[in-house]
Amino acid sequence: MSGSSALDPSTVIGVIGAGAMGSGIATVALKAGHRVLLHDTAPAAIERAITSIRQDFDRQVDKQRMSAQERDACSSRIEAASMIEMLAPCGLVIEAIVENLEVKTAVLKRIEAIVETGTIIASNTSSLSITAIAARLSRPESVVGMHFFNPAQILPLVEVIHGKMTAPEVAKTIFDTASAWKKVPVYCTSTPGFIVNRVARPFYGEALRLLSERTADPATLDAILRESGGFRMGPFELMDMIGHDVNYAVTCSVFEAFYQDPRFKPSLLQKDLVDAGWLGRKAGRGFYDYNTDAVRPQATTASPENSPVEVVIEGDLGCARPLVDIARRAGLSVSQTNGSGGIRIDGVLVALTDGRNATERSTQSGETVILFDLALDYESCVRVALAAPDQVNKNELAAATGFFQSLGKAVSFIDDAPGMVVMRTVAMLANEAAEAVHQDVASQSDIDLAMQKGVNYPLGPLAWADRIGTQTVCKVLQHIADFYGEDRYRVSPLLRRKASAAGNFSASL
Ligand code: NAI
Repeated sequence: MSGSSALDPSTVIGVIGAGAMGSGIATVALKAGHRVLLHDTAPAAIERAITSIRQDFDRQVDKQRMSAQERDACSSRIEAASMIEMLAPCGLVIEAIVENLEVKTAVLKRIEAIVETGTIIASNTSSLSITAIAARLSRPESVVGMHFFNPAQILPLVEVIHGKMTAPEVAKTIFDTASAWKKVPVYCTSTPGFIVNRVARPFYGEALRLLSERTADPATLDAILRESGGFRMGPFELMDMIGHDVNYAVTCSVFEAFYQDPRFKPSLLQKDLVDAGWLGRKAGRGFYDYNTDAVRPQATTASPENSPVEVVIEGDLGCARPLVDIARRAGLSVSQTNGSGGIRIDGVLVALTDGRNATERSTQSGETVILFDLALDYESCVRVALAAPDQVNKNELAAATGFFQSLGKAVSFIDDAPGMVVMRTVAMLANEAAEAVHQDVASQSDIDLAMQKGVNYPLGPLAWADRIGTQTVCKVLQHIADFYGEDRYRVSPLLRRKASAAGNFSASL
């Protein structure tokens, strides 16, 4: 299929559900030039939504993002549909009501009886099966998922979900329409969590696991993932913002939907927060305290140590190779020799994590090895996490700390966890992304795009795996799996295949 099949702006759009998502979706369709009919069982919700949509347009005019003429045109195109029958002229109806299969299908059955045969019925569901919704209707081929992200008027991603019976031309029309609405659409199949809510699970899951094993406190783990990993927010502050009730419910639903696959196992730590009513920002308390007099805890940061004068690079540093030039520019004397990959500083070996913890690695190599974590960009990152073996001494710690401090990085020591923080998180995100490709949920490029546009990741997980090296990612996961002896860390067959062929994901895009 080629050429755009986007719905013409003359097509009337029906939006059912005038809550947070319905209002945002209506705003997007109005700005694209459509007439929008907004329906909700609560008339007050419709009025509230229309008022707030119009106020939003006013603010856009104030900020000179919209002309007054455009505002007037958009504002005049929205109409309240107090009765569902008023949606009869719609060419596309987008449902954004309560997340309940029975309620959704009951409403959509009524819609089917009201609209023309060619009308597309889209659901904004974030967790229900599009196939299951469609199967209960009489024209399942016209049913498709159109999953916006909150706030829909701002976040660009739209997951276009085709159920088993969705006609390809219906999915394409929705894909092209989302593009015409200045959104970034991606295709995916009707599988639990679709792309984003599935692939993002390890970002929360591994952080919760590290916390439950007392690897570091939330402020330190957040700082490492932000300041070293390049994520816009750390997992704990992000979960606090999303709300633990919502985040925990999504994890539980994905876990159950995958027949309790341990990769998605929910955390007791998070359940405890939900039980306590510490739901995050909205409750004034989550991992952090949001009361006005609360003092925000700071990341644990090592005290200043002397800078080493010279360092020896032993072998290849892999994706940490940029450290060689950074060290030279910092005025250190840097020489290179053969070796297994590491930086010799005042006699102690400092190496990038390969998934084994520092104690295991030191024992195996017969000398102290202090580990450093993955960074998105060693040049610009301002923090690096280190982990030391149980048998480390004070001078060895000082040497490793002083080296990274001399490069302008804050140092956070964490407990000796396998895979550390950024490497473990990114390896697990890439593994989940690879598994989703392997199971034909979506294409490699769409998954990477979805994670960047839907949850603001600094790089798509598969592009990130390529940058680290698929063999390294595979090795990291294998070592973590060996350490825990858990199926949770099993390597995706696709990642393993790429690694065996020393290949990468982008080569086959
Ligand atoms: P909301 O609670 O803000 O709004 C839902 C609206 O639907 C309410 O105004 C309610 O009166 C109305 N409603 C309930 N039953 C109805 C019925 N039978 N007929 C007509 N209207 C009815 O909910 P929200 O957050 O806007 O979510 C709506 C849908 O979007 C859900 O399926 C949710 O899973 C999905 N979603 C939510 C996201 C979020 O972050 N809030 C993100 C992406 C999808």
